[in-house]
Amino acid sequence: MPDNAPRKLAITLVLALLAGLQGTAAEPTYSDIAPILQNRCVLCHAGPQPPLGLRLENLAQLLKGSQRGPVVQAGDPAGSELIKRLKGISQPRMPLSGPPFLSAAEIDLFERWIAAGLKPAVAPRATDAAAGPGAAPAATPGTMPNYSHVEAIFARRCAKCHSPHGLMGAAPEGYLLSSYATTLAYADRARVVPGSADASELVRRIRGQSRPRMPYDGPPFLDETEISLIVDWVNQGARDAQGKPAPVPSGAKVRLQGTLGANWRLDTLPLKIDAKTRIDHSPQAGDYVQVRGRLMRDGSVLVERIRPRSR
Ligand code: HEC
Ligand code: HEC
Repeated sequence: MPDNAPRKLAITLVLALLAGLQGTAAEPTYSDIAPILQNRCVLCHAGPQPPLGLRLENLAQLLKGSQRGPVVQAGDPAGSELIKRLKGISQPRMPLSGPPFLSAAEIDLFERWIAAGLKPAVAPRATDAAAGPGAAPAATPGTMPNYSHVEAIFARRCAKCHSPHGLMGAAPEGYLLSSYATTLAYADRARVVPGSADASELVRRIRGQSRPRMPYDGPPFLDETEISLIVDWVNQGARDAQGKPAPVPSGAKVRLQGTLGANWRLDTLPLKIDAKTRIDHSPQAGDYVQVRGRLMRDGSVLVERIRPRSR
């Protein structure tokens, strides 16, 4: 119909504009694709007997893959079974309930998420990071730090105390920095939150946002390059030496220290406060505080207790 043509053109333009905007937006993270998985996939890929053993209710399960192996390969969308299924290159095409299948834009989002290295959660925006004390410049684009890049710093500067029989006897706070597994361990609480340097007490300590600053025997503290490398490593998923990102330990406890900002921010980290949060001694913006809370799925912190602390 001729009088539909201008309208079609207008819609096409708007779509092109949106696509353009998406292109310039930050790289997608798991938080961007999670709603699609919830709406279109968990219907089948959940519960005790999911198809081919593939559960898609959270990031850890997605990364674990099916009984045939991983369904996503970091950096390689075309080689990822999940993309092949979404496009119908592998049959049956997913979602099995389709058509409708996913839109081109939705598939594109999955492809960019895989290409960017399977980022777990929203990393702090560049502007936030730049505002943070001790913020370091972003690493060279395209580099994806893994544990083998930061291991030497921990071994050289931290493990002399943070090991089972170190300079101070048992490891301070029971926190061992002598292996990947112990650095990421969260049985008592998480000190490294994959995807969020700002929610990681380890990062707060090396930046000096949380005191005493680490290494405890400093100065010298870590230099800007070392701090920036660790920040990047954490923000890009605290990958193991093989480059596999760690899942966000949702539900794990955290204990963070820092300076309270306006609107419930701990330095640059937004805090979630709810009716159950215990707020002691009405902390004010500018106060140095201790926050105890739990990690939400998206890597944010739900505060259980917040109180001022002496510096
Ligand atoms: C109606 C049920 C259903 C829905 C909805 C569904 N799937 Fe599936 N999925 C299956 C079944 C059944 C299989 C096994 C098919 C086969 O390969 O024989 C499967 C297989 C897969 C596989 C292949 C795993 C492997 O290792 O080969 C992937 C990847 C996958 N699904 C992803 C998805 C994604 C992503 C969505 C959502 C966009 C989705 N599925 C939605 C039922 C479903
Ligand atoms: C000379 C010994 C020593 C060295 C070296 C050292 N630490 Fe510590 N660390 C401590 C002590 C003591 C504490 C407890 C301080 C406090 O909070 O009162 C601590 C606490 C911490 C905590 C807080 C743990 C928690 O449960 O909240 C983190 C994180 C940490 N250190 C990381 C590091 C890192 C990273 C390095 C290396 C860059 C490092 N430390 C080097 C002695 C050390």
